[in-house]
Amino acid sequence: MKAFFLASLLVVAASASLLQEHAVKFQAFKMAHGRTYLNQVEEAKRFSIFRDNLRSIEEHNALYEQGLVSYKQKITKFADKTKEEFKAFLTLHKKPTLSKTTKYVKTGVAVPDSVDWRQQGQVTPIKDQGNCGSCWAFSITGTTEGAYYRKNGKLVSLSEQQLVDCATDVNDGCQGGFMTETLPYVEQYGLQSEETYPYVAQDNACSYNASKVVTKISSYVVLPVEDENALLEAVATVGPVSVAIDAYYIDSYGSGVFEDADCSPDFLNHGVVIVGYGTENGKDYWLVKNSWGTGWGEEGYMKMARGINMCGISEETVYPVV
Ligand SMILES: *[C@@H]1O[C@H](CO)[C@@H](O)[C@H](O)[C@H]1NC(C)=O
Repeated sequence: MKAFFLASLLVVAASASLLQEHAVKFQAFKMAHGRTYLNQVEEAKRFSIFRDNLRSIEEHNALYEQGLVSYKQKITKFADKTKEEFKAFLTLHKKPTLSKTTKYVKTGVAVPDSVDWRQQGQVTPIKDQGNCGSCWAFSITGTTEGAYYRKNGKLVSLSEQQLVDCATDVNDGCQGGFMTETLPYVEQYGLQSEETYPYVAQDNACSYNASKVVTKISSYVVLPVEDENALLEAVATVGPVSVAIDAYYIDSYGSGVFEDADCSPDFLNHGVVIVGYGTENGKDYWLVKNSWGTGWGEEGYMKMARGINMCGISEETVYPVV
């Protein structure tokens, strides 16, 4: 009886210190992400969600330490959100319906073992879409910035806000949008710079000014579906390519080559940009530029397993030509 009592006390003490440890981490999280909550009830709710996510991250990373998974997780800005809340933030629309696309034709040219367009100065710094479902706009500016660089040898950050506010024929601004279907807008109107049309992460009235346009595009090229060899060739010989993925499993991605059998080509819900590829610890990967700030992943980037259509990365792929 005495021993049982002592053991119970120890359990209580251990869970109290774990609670303490989690509270410290939650405090650090709130500081890092400028979080304030409406009231104590909300704070308690968020702390509870945070602890659930933290436990799940720690379990995953224990598997990583044992060499059983190829990527690490970490606390990201989504750590106080439930999976349902995170899912609601993934708002890429899909089902390409365009007739007027150019199809990519493979050349069969030999490509290098690895490519990183960041090192060629073709990629702008990591951006943050904030609390707005505008991934599609970031994917399109990212690939267009590459195309513009290719043509003009200059890197100019292009305006997502213009797409959110003005490309409303087919898109729903912060409520989501398409990638390929946005390119006809860019073809017709062109894109202003980030500087003249800054990002504010909310739907506003269109204030497009044609005389401030940096570039239009002349066409856009759609790659064959589920053909990662074509994708490899295009990334190597052309530059950054806009792709759609299932992002449901990557909220806590920290580093390494992401691979998860549950990640599905049937649920494309997020637009990103492939800016290179390579191999790490024997695993081939795509180098993916995301729009969730530098606090997520590897300074805002992720390595996605390559050659197995991971998360549907080769389902919907397109790049523009300036
Ligand atoms: C559009 O931009 C030009 C050039 O910067 C400027 O002179 C003009 O006033 C702008 N038009 C509007 C409606 O803001």
